[in-house]
Amino acid sequence: KLKVATIGGGSSYTPELIEGFIKRYDEFPLTELWLVDIEAGKEKLEIVGNLAKRMVKKAGLDIRIELTLDREEALKEADFVTTQFRVGLLEARKKDERIPLKYDVIGQETNGPGGLFKGLRTIPVILDITRDMERLCPDAWLINFTNPAGMVTEAVLRYSNIEKVVGLCNVPIGIEMGVSKLLDVDHSRVRIDFAGLNHMVYGLNVFLDGENVTKHVVEKLTDPEQTSFVKNIEGIGYDPSFIRALGVLTCPYHNYYYKHRDMLEKQQKEAKEQGTRAEVVSKLEKELFELYKDDTLDIKPPQLEERGGAYYSDAAVRLITSIYNDKRDIQPVNTRNNGAIASIPNDSAVEISSVITKDGPKPIAIGDLPVAVRGLVQQIKSFERISAEAAVTGDIDLAVLALSINPLTPSDTVAREIVDEMMEAHKDYLPQF
Ligand code: NAD
Ligand code: G6P
Ligand code: MN
Repeated sequence: KLKVATIGGGSSYTPELIEGFIKRYDEFPLTELWLVDIEAGKEKLEIVGNLAKRMVKKAGLDIRIELTLDREEALKEADFVTTQFRVGLLEARKKDERIPLKYDVIGQETNGPGGLFKGLRTIPVILDITRDMERLCPDAWLINFTNPAGMVTEAVLRYSNIEKVVGLCNVPIGIEMGVSKLLDVDHSRVRIDFAGLNHMVYGLNVFLDGENVTKHVVEKLTDPEQTSFVKNIEGIGYDPSFIRALGVLTCPYHNYYYKHRDMLEKQQKEAKEQGTRAEVVSKLEKELFELYKDDTLDIKPPQLEERGGAYYSDAAVRLITSIYNDKRDIQPVNTRNNGAIASIPNDSAVEISSVITKDGPKPIAIGDLPVAVRGLVQQIKSFERISAEAAVTGDIDLAVLALSINPLTPSDTVAREIVDEMMEAHKDYLPQF
């Protein structure tokens, strides 16, 4: 028996995950997949769960798919638990993205005020899940995809009894894919050394067939058309002198920091014209579920690629497969630093290329980050730690502190005003405050 429980199973990303399990079935012979959701997600769970069943059937595989609202039953004796839930649903994301814009602050679901509040809503739920896991599947691995994935991993490492946790993001694999395309070579020939934090990760070195081609790739990235490697962010071309002097690869989320004012103006304009990303996603999601309802559909529809989480299945299932088979290949994941990056505390979560073993990821030591990026990474780590502490203690002053030290916030008073308004807006999902 090989059992996986997926929390937030009603997600439109579930067909991604199923595709991943189908593709890697030889290496990971899954026998049971339990998709768990809550009452509010029941209808989505039903629709996407039935598509999952059709996909497995088409592939001719004997994988039992269970749809349930009973988390305990799903967790019982699971070998892997994956999480992809959204506390407060898209309505909450809309608020995370809209409210900050009124204060001339970036509105984004994993950065700045949006990241803080998504963390405050999510951390109590994930800690609750880890307590269930202690009782029901103490040997299972928790593979967390739920955002803000870096802050959530930090919270699990610091405030739960679960050691076997890995945080996962599709951004590094998205960069690898994007760079492969730039070089016009197959993905398998490219390796990038990643280090930093979730949505604050840098590609320090790029290798093509083992040869260091970082300089060449950095030069290609000075092309103003080369702005982003994920669908949910359209960047703004950086000044070539900046990219060249930095000398490492940035991730799409860096646009919010290094192009702060331009991105804010862009967001405010888009919010008026087409809506924030949550509002765009809300339409995309409706279209996706209309497709999923069609009972002749039995593959992952290509339209899903319009969502930001492309390659999620590859990232998730290749990670699970490597843990299961003790493969010892290299993958970028969120894991305990353990000295791999000198300027980040040993016990904190970092996003870093790691050797994936049966005992989990072993981060590859890089020494330290380049001096140009070190300070920002430390600042965001402090933001994540204080935010996680606020989430656990329900101390509103800590939430204000976290936001005040975030580089996207102009002042402590603006931080206070935003926190007050967002606390009120999200109060149904913030019982700890
Ligand atoms: P979604 O809004 O479709 O939510 C997924 C499901 O979670 C819904 O069916 C919802 O009912 C359910 N849910 C909400 N609260 C729950 C709870 N307490 N327990 C169980 N289920 C619950 O969201 P989505 O767009 O599919 O994204 C899901 C999550 O994955 C989000 O947190 C998102 O930020 C994250 N995500 C992460 C990455 C990454 O790179 N790590 C990429 C894409 C999405
Ligand atoms: C990916 C990120 C995720 C993010 C998602 C948003 O780039 O890695 O962490 O949440 O895209 O995609 P969406 O389609 O929901 O805006
Ligand atoms: Mn991500």
